[in-house]
Amino acid sequence: MRTLITHGTIVTASDLYKGDVLIEDEKIAVIGTTLDDIVSMADKVIDASGKYVLPGGIDVHTHLDMPFGGTTSADDFESGTRAAAFGGTTSVVDFAIQYRGQTLHHAWETWMKKAEGKAVIDYGFHMIMTDLNDHTEGEMDALVRQGVTSFKLFMAYPGVFMLDDGSIFKALLRTGANGGTICMHAENGGVIDVLVQRALAEGKTAPKYHALTRPARAEAEATHRAIALAEIADVPIYIVHLSAAEALEMVTEARDRGLPAFAETCPQYLFLSYDNYEEPDFGGAKYVMSPPLREKRTQDQLWRGLAFNDLQCISTDHCPFCMKEQKEIGRNDFSKIPNGAPGIETRMSLVYDGGVRAGRITLNRFVELTSTSPAKIFGLFPRKGTIAPGSDADIVVFDPHRTITLSAETLHMKVDYSPYEGRRVTGAADTVLSHGRVVIEDGQFVGRVGAGSFLKRSPRS
Ligand code: URP
Ligand code: ZN
Ligand code: ZN
Repeated sequence: MRTLITHGTIVTASDLYKGDVLIEDEKIAVIGTTLDDIVSMADKVIDASGKYVLPGGIDVHTHLDMPFGGTTSADDFESGTRAAAFGGTTSVVDFAIQYRGQTLHHAWETWMKKAEGKAVIDYGFHMIMTDLNDHTEGEMDALVRQGVTSFKLFMAYPGVFMLDDGSIFKALLRTGANGGTICMHAENGGVIDVLVQRALAEGKTAPKYHALTRPARAEAEATHRAIALAEIADVPIYIVHLSAAEALEMVTEARDRGLPAFAETCPQYLFLSYDNYEEPDFGGAKYVMSPPLREKRTQDQLWRGLAFNDLQCISTDHCPFCMKEQKEIGRNDFSKIPNGAPGIETRMSLVYDGGVRAGRITLNRFVELTSTSPAKIFGLFPRKGTIAPGSDADIVVFDPHRTITLSAETLHMKVDYSPYEGRRVTGAADTVLSHGRVVIEDGQFVGRVGAGSFLKRSPRS
């Protein structure tokens, strides 16, 4: 099967030029300024005139089919990856969870079963570790060999996910030997727990108290501690869903000292703010996530971090819960509202519109933040994350002029609200290919359920 994408503008993290791309079966075969001579050889021709030809988006932070707070995230691997494809994302790295007393292998098998036969695009896994013993460390090595090369640890949620500093340090040390990467949820869980109990005892139960009991300094302290532990262990560290300017300062300071400290932020921290928690009638519950939304002025600081490479990736932390029956669980107690929000489908359009069109980042940087850097940091490059001969033909034909209105009614995520309801954004994925097969065309899903494959990622070299 040969597919030719003609007359588009090819954009990678470093290049921008008019050109044609020939795909043979699942891979990019040829790139040329014009491949008109071989049009007759193609089984399918996609006219990308006036459009960008981008490497498919890579979202390295999703929670599909994830049990949390007495319920399960609303998108499974079928609906979630389909929505991702609609938005121009062609690979996700989700999180398997090792619950206390379980092996890492059991957790990996469980999450593989959730994805197999359902995912419409490729998927990999990070491993959330909640129980670290001598067996676990050996298992980490085995997982890295099997392509699960990153491990998420929590400094928050005491009694559920949180690990003590000694266990965190052991895990960091182990990645020094096995080439894995530690991803850290950096919030001081002990402090937050005290603040939450005090707020509840004072009768403060509304959603906004979720944010008011998770101060920016608690994120900054944990970010600093995580980086310090990684520095002592002499290994890289990746901070997930960074939201606070105070936490960004910690990453920037470490990077200025030459440390391999990396971090991602997410669209919700770039486009939403604490003010959203003030929405009436329990509306603030839509934005209950951890870390919480911050003051509006933080947005500019995060954009600066993205522009100057103190932040390397934009992922979504897609973890949707419906208002009805799910967020509702915490109507009388903010601490019971399941943490998380939808975003897998809206990332590329939001970041293009609010980043590139607004003049905050270049088009190349947009590709780097949403595809190339995630691929490089998480062992997928150059198979993914660029447009080059030999790379997987995961390609997005992106219309920079099409304006869409974000709404739960028209988006494809299985959740009954959008945090961006009514927001108009310009720039949207038109045609999306995964492994050379068209999965989105003319606003329709034309892929196959279960066509996605497990991404065996490479360790750090
Ligand atoms: O609120 C969030 N972020 N929910 C998902 C779990 C996590 O900590 O990433
Ligand atoms: Zn987290
Ligand atoms: Zn998350």
